[in-house]
Amino acid sequence: MSSSSDHLDPALFEQYLELIHSRTGVLIADSSSSQSRIQMLANRLAKPIARAGVRDFRSYLIKIQACSAGDVVWKEFIHAITTHKTNFFREPHHFACLREFIRQKAARAPRSSFEIWSAGCSTGEEPYSIAFTALPEIRSPLHILATDLDATVLETASKAVYRMEVGLGRENLQRYFLRGTGSNASAIRVKDEFRAPVRFETFNLIDRAYPHKQRFDAIFCRNVLIYFGRSTREHVIGQLVSSLAPDGLLFLGNAESLAGHPNFESVAPTVYRYRKLSRSLFKPALAEALPL
Ligand SMILES: C[S@@+](CC[C@H](N)C(=O)[O-])C[C@H]1O[C@@H](n2cnc3c(N)ncnc32)[C@H](O)[C@@H]1O
Repeated sequence: MSSSSDHLDPALFEQYLELIHSRTGVLIADSSSSQSRIQMLANRLAKPIARAGVRDFRSYLIKIQACSAGDVVWKEFIHAITTHKTNFFREPHHFACLREFIRQKAARAPRSSFEIWSAGCSTGEEPYSIAFTALPEIRSPLHILATDLDATVLETASKAVYRMEVGLGRENLQRYFLRGTGSNASAIRVKDEFRAPVRFETFNLIDRAYPHKQRFDAIFCRNVLIYFGRSTREHVIGQLVSSLAPDGLLFLGNAESLAGHPNFESVAPTVYRYRKLSRSLFKPALAEALPL
């Protein structure tokens, strides 16, 4: 290709948006002008197009339309179009809230295990922050399921290797990480005890059925719903409701809200406790629009 945007005309761009929406639920934001959205997508696709060995945006679209979820070309496409910004202890009050919740449950039921799901976990900072918070509090088994649509970020997450400059103080670095040596002196790796409870899996939140059999005590689904359209958000929230244990907590991102949702009561900013409703109330309530 002579230039990354030469052949991404508006009609072709719309076809990309349709494919991205139908396979991932993601709506490419439309707050900016059409031209800058086209340019943004063209820039993001330049590298995967070059790696796929095709000539132009049209050939690439044809190629990815034929891909299945396990294909390398598809994985590179998904990595290019998704946003992965994350941090350790992002929204610190969520982790204070999780700690208190765990203490209370451990006092009530000291032998029962804790099941926590980080849905849309990106490069792993979120599930490891959950492990750092939860593990010192409990004596019973802790299981953290960490999922993402993007297999590339999960490879990074499961290596658990980060740069020293992750924004944590010296005490936390020493408590949670091992320091690299020699040529790896600027790298840190999460200690094995905090890696052990975390299991990574590729999972697309827009799938019709969720395969996980267990009910989760807490679900973190932060800064993911914000990329979806309304009906996708409703579907995902409905599935998360079915995945939560009664009185379980749902943590959302700071631009996401479930205010007024009949199944949830707010317990802290963007933290909601699941309340099971009787069947007759449940269906009409879910059919209502979600006030995101
Ligand atoms: C901005 S990151 C949020 C990471 C973390 N939850 C946090 O708040 O720090 C959004 C993540 O959602 C993932 N994602 C986007 N669409 C998804 C989908 N349909 N199913 C599962 N994950 C998805 C992206 O790959 C990305 O890693």
